[in-house]
Amino acid sequence: MYLYVLLACVSWVLESHSAPMKIVSGSTQDNHTAVCAEIEKELMADNVTYKGSFERPQNTSEELCYGKFIEGFISTLNNISTKHKNDWHIEKVCKNMRQLTKICPKLKLTGHNCITEKSNFSKFKEALQSVVISIEGWKSCKRIKGVL
Ligand SMILES: *[C@@H]1O[C@H](CO)[C@@H](O)[C@H](O)[C@H]1NC(C)=O
Ligand SMILES: *[C@@H]1O[C@H](CO)[C@@H](O)[C@H](O)[C@H]1NC(C)=O
Ligand SMILES: *[C@@H]1O[C@H](CO)[C@@H](O)[C@H](O)[C@H]1NC(C)=O
Ligand SMILES: *[C@@H]1O[C@H](CO)[C@@H](O)[C@H](O)[C@H]1NC(C)=O
Ligand SMILES: *[C@@H]1O[C@H](CO)[C@@H](O)[C@H](O)[C@H]1NC(C)=O
Repeated sequence: MYLYVLLACVSWVLESHSAPMKIVSGSTQDNHTAVCAEIEKELMADNVTYKGSFERPQNTSEELCYGKFIEGFISTLNNISTKHKNDWHIEKVCKNMRQLTKICPKLKLTGHNCITEKSNFSKFKEALQSVVISIEGWKSCKRIKGVL
């Protein structure tokens, strides 16, 4: 019992002091802020404007719908990268979005009345950016050991 408490404290101390180390060791995969920042960076770097009609959320502030919206984004991004095989930016965004759904428990929630609309690629990208920026600001986006 005593040992257990001691270990718990030690690991708490280690955790609270190891934040800068984590950046160095690069555990960006578990860090939703870092994953979101990378998505934003890739979206900015992608200068291609695709023609056609793309599904986007009507209201990007509906956080309860983010799970559904992200499913839609991933499906659309998948379709784009299947058609245009050499867009590495889109591919990376797609991969990072999948990663987000793994590390953010909140993205498993699905609201109702999640309304989408057709738009051009610029508007689609805008909505995607806005949702990702909003997720980046979440504080509760952590992998919970033993629960997930
Ligand atoms: C997560 O990533 C952000 C941005 O890269 C960084 O500022 C932050 O310290 C990281 N947090 C952890 C716990 O590694
Ligand atoms: C888009 O970016 C690529 C490099 O990522 C560059 O080669 C290309 O010229 C750019 N195209 C336009 C229209 O800016
Ligand atoms: C969008 O959703 C937010 C959050 O649910 C809500 O407060 C806002 O009124 C909605 N905006 C519109 C234009 O429906
Ligand atoms: C992606 O492509 C599939 C097959 O062509 C299609 O059924 C689906 O509706 C597309 N999804 C999106 C979001 O465009
Ligand atoms: C996309 O649609 C918006 C309005 O829905 C329009 O203002 C914008 O010019 C369009 N962009 C392109 C590249 O067609």
